[in-house]
Amino acid sequence: MNQDELKRAAADAALEYVVAGEIVGVGTGSTANHFIDGLAARRKDILGAVASSEASAQRLAGHGIRLFDLNEVDTMPVYVDGADEIDAGLSMIKGGGGALTREKIVAAVAERFVCICDASKRVAALGSFPLPVEVIPMARAHVARRLGALGGAPRLREGFVTDNGNLILDVHGLSIADPATFEAEIDHIAGVVSNGLFAIRGADVLLLAGSDGVECQLRS
Ligand code: A5P
Repeated sequence: MNQDELKRAAADAALEYVVAGEIVGVGTGSTANHFIDGLAARRKDILGAVASSEASAQRLAGHGIRLFDLNEVDTMPVYVDGADEIDAGLSMIKGGGGALTREKIVAAVAERFVCICDASKRVAALGSFPLPVEVIPMARAHVARRLGALGGAPRLREGFVTDNGNLILDVHGLSIADPATFEAEIDHIAGVVSNGLFAIRGADVLLLAGSDGVECQLRS
């Protein structure tokens, strides 16, 4: 199977975690798109979905899946999304698609985070994938200096504006020893909206698709 077929295999496996009669939280990206396409066949079983981006909202609506505003939803059983990197403790780097802030917010409302990945996303230590940091535009230079002082090499994602009207700094050159501590440290920089480390609240379930099938790992 090629990488896209592996993404689809992981996404299909996540359909087992969808709870009938409930709202499902839906992530963003090519793996999440496979999940959305698979969810289409289940649209009459579920109440609807909360999307983590405008792109996912459009795809869900295209399949006739009812969309809910997150403010209408107290809780949901599951949030399903991909990742750019995931480690053995199920901490992740996300935000390659720039939707990290809404992803983190929707995931926070869900009882369970199910991460769907092809095997290439598994890493021993997070940081080879540049860490996305969403910043308020007027804070771009200040945040970049602070990220540099933390040992990273931030680069502005050229020509990109988030769904929230902000900018993304992609931080290169990191090897992150303690993801939860680093996540909190970056969040404390004035002007940072959120960062792509999902470690304080990582995944609860990983569905990792490789050549031998889809392996399921639970957060310990
Ligand atoms: C979107 O902002 C990201 O967090 C994605 O979940 C992540 O980049 C994985 O994307 P793919 O499924 O396209 O690899």
